[in-house]
Amino acid sequence: MGKILVTGGAGFIGSHTVVELQNVGKEVVVLDNLSNASEKSLERVSAITGKKVPFYKADILDREALEEIFSKEDISAVIHFAGLKAVGESVAKPWEYYENNIAGTLTLVDVMRKHGCKNIIFSSSATVYGDPAFIPITEECPKGVCTNPYGWTKSMLEQILSDIQKADNEWNVILLRYFNPIGAHKSGTMGENPNGIPNNLMPYITQVAVGKRDHLNVFGNDYDTHDGTGVRDYIHVVDLAVGHVKALKKIEEKAGLKIYNLGTGQGYSVLDIVKNFEEANGVKIPYEITERRPGDIATCYADATLAKKELGWEAKYGIKEMCEDSWRWQKNNPNGYQ
Ligand code: NAD
Ligand code: WQD
Repeated sequence: MGKILVTGGAGFIGSHTVVELQNVGKEVVVLDNLSNASEKSLERVSAITGKKVPFYKADILDREALEEIFSKEDISAVIHFAGLKAVGESVAKPWEYYENNIAGTLTLVDVMRKHGCKNIIFSSSATVYGDPAFIPITEECPKGVCTNPYGWTKSMLEQILSDIQKADNEWNVILLRYFNPIGAHKSGTMGENPNGIPNNLMPYITQVAVGKRDHLNVFGNDYDTHDGTGVRDYIHVVDLAVGHVKALKKIEEKAGLKIYNLGTGQGYSVLDIVKNFEEANGVKIPYEITERRPGDIATCYADATLAKKELGWEAKYGIKEMCEDSWRWQKNNPNGYQ
């Protein structure tokens, strides 16, 4: 096995995955255009693993840059995180999302095949299930209607990568459907670093806890759930990172085309998260109930037994550790990597 190219490797999930890859002795090369990340995350990775992280500041849309990387480095597989991921922004800027995520991936995959590298692990999302046909969601659950362009990029890219694998079975394609990643590395030196006002629940909560925001807005308490607030499957980012190491092993064994949910199988409501965060960290999170957020669904959690059966992977960390680790990162780094 040659080196592993991690696109988007300076980002939240990518940087945590680089740690786990280096920890098991994989040779990693990172590519990121730093549009939503800081190179400092890679310094933090090195401080944890004691290994250098070879880094290319490059864009997946830049064919020449990709050609150069694939010519210089002996890349045998790609873990493809690079992409834009803000749901609301994707509604306002659909062209930018389709261009970056879809055209970017098409360019990447074309350069890969020209260099004989036909192994890819792709960051997909539970968002491809739309409003899920059943709960808990297995991989058999039909893909649904996405409520925003971001979600459609994931759904379409799954189709594109599947078609490419079907046409040429030298390809090994693993589509990983993440549920809601939160938490941070135990060291408290790496974590999620959103620009501006966080869209996602946990970074919003940690910013309230650190005093950057006054209170949490809870988007609706009239859903059909145990307390009326939305239920999600939160998964520790380190568990997710380890899932990629396991998927890579599957790729090395010639996976063909595989799809796995990466979740814990446990659903927590917004108010469950607030309560767990307060209890785990001894901090108060003031909140107000507001209107539902357009496009949100009531309930979404995984049946993750396929990943357990076929990858030997299962989430290890519970909600308490997710809350503690998110808070340790935010408390130690109130301004993220700045
Ligand atoms: P992130 O924004 O922290 O990481 C994505 C990285 O890709 C960033 O570092 C960004 O600078 C880089 N990037 C974006 N466009 C690029 C381009 N054209 N060329 C090179 N680099 C580019 O996000 P994340 O949370 O770590 O997510 C990683 C992947 O997982 C994304 O594809 C995301 O859509 C997917 N995902 C995330 C979540 C989540 O809730 N965080 C859930 C499901 C799926
Ligand atoms: C979780 C719950 C909100 C913020 C999104 C994307 C999805 C995936 C993961 C990439 C919901 C509620 C939130 C707030 C709140 N990303 N909430 N107040 O919406 O499940 O998934 O991130 O693929 O595609 O859609 O995650 O963290 O935004 O929300 O009440 O300030 O918290 O309504 O019930 P979501 P989230």
